[in-house]
Amino acid sequence: MEQKLNSLLDQAKKHLERIAGDGALEEAKKQFDRIAGDGTLEEAKKQFDRIAGDGTLEEAKKQFDRIAGDGTLDQVKKQLEDFRIQYLGRKGEFSAIMQQLGTIPVEERPRFGQLANRVKAEIEKCFEAKKAALVDSAGGQGPGFVDLSLPGRVPERGRLHPVTQIMAEVCGIFEALGFSVAEGPDVEHDYYNFEALNIPAHHPARDMHDTFYVSESILLRTHTSPMQARIMENQQPPLRVIAPGKVYRCDSDITHTPMFHQVEGFLVDTKVSFADLKGILTVFTQKMFDKDLPLRFRPSFFPFTEPSAEVDIACVMCGGTGCRVCKQTGWLEILGAGMIDPEVFRMVGYDPELYSGFAFGLGIERIAMLKYGINDIRLYYENDLRFLSQF
Ligand code: PHE
Repeated sequence: MEQKLNSLLDQAKKHLERIAGDGALEEAKKQFDRIAGDGTLEEAKKQFDRIAGDGTLEEAKKQFDRIAGDGTLDQVKKQLEDFRIQYLGRKGEFSAIMQQLGTIPVEERPRFGQLANRVKAEIEKCFEAKKAALVDSAGGQGPGFVDLSLPGRVPERGRLHPVTQIMAEVCGIFEALGFSVAEGPDVEHDYYNFEALNIPAHHPARDMHDTFYVSESILLRTHTSPMQARIMENQQPPLRVIAPGKVYRCDSDITHTPMFHQVEGFLVDTKVSFADLKGILTVFTQKMFDKDLPLRFRPSFFPFTEPSAEVDIACVMCGGTGCRVCKQTGWLEILGAGMIDPEVFRMVGYDPELYSGFAFGLGIERIAMLKYGINDIRLYYENDLRFLSQF
């Protein structure tokens, strides 16, 4: 009888292990993951909508139960109840053994009684533990329980780089003013970057550009102005063009990076005046900064414009009182501009007596710094997501 009790305990333990040990729980979980976590939020939402969109929450819940629970809970509950009846029930295997207690000699009975109690207690303990693990621990909801109130797994969404965003905004403003967009090469001929813009070899103006040379006659463009020559060479006035793109200069500090972005703009027609340039740039800054930031035209020199100006905008970092970003001047230079030099027209075959035009080149990073209140240009290119994800 001692042997019978011990093998009953063994058998009961093995039996419990088999209950819900068929991987059903894992499978149910996987099914739910496939629905909500397959990486596309949209698809998951659509599936939820299909399920829950028929108007009845009850029905939706049932459908989830079917998907994720597929009756697993009920099956497990039934298996556990069957177990209880088979081993611990009034007509179960334990009772059957106990009925044979009468055949044991009286003096041996207390020892067997104790053993029987221990075995029963052990079976009950294992049973309760299994039940708790499978049913109760899931909040009484069972192994296939899906908590509908949990938020979905939202995939990380990418976004455009702040410089790209500002570039698009700048281009959008000029496009709305009737400018068309043209793009040219980053690796440029010396001719377009300098010669055609009235900067011959050995001209001191070349020193301003800190050029990266690829070979004697090929370089990384130092500005987007070569696009003036490239377009005018091929098209006749009237012209209204912007040329956005990357430019390169061997220069690095808190307001300069070796690569940055410019948007070139130019307009050529008969009777274009400096007032037209001022008008266009005023409209642009008003649209770009949503407020009437003061503009300042400073006389300047570019070999390809005459007269030339550098245009500053009041420093929004310090409000014009002077800070590190505006180098204590209260102003930030955002673009260079001027009336296109007759010499440039001559080189592309335009008649300077007939045509006039203006050109400007603005720095996108500068504008983005002003717009977002950023005081170090290098932040744009350090690829720190804590910075980039704010835009
Ligand atoms: N290309 C000049 C620069 O990069 C800017 C400019 C463009 C000036 C057009 C005048 C006209 O500094």
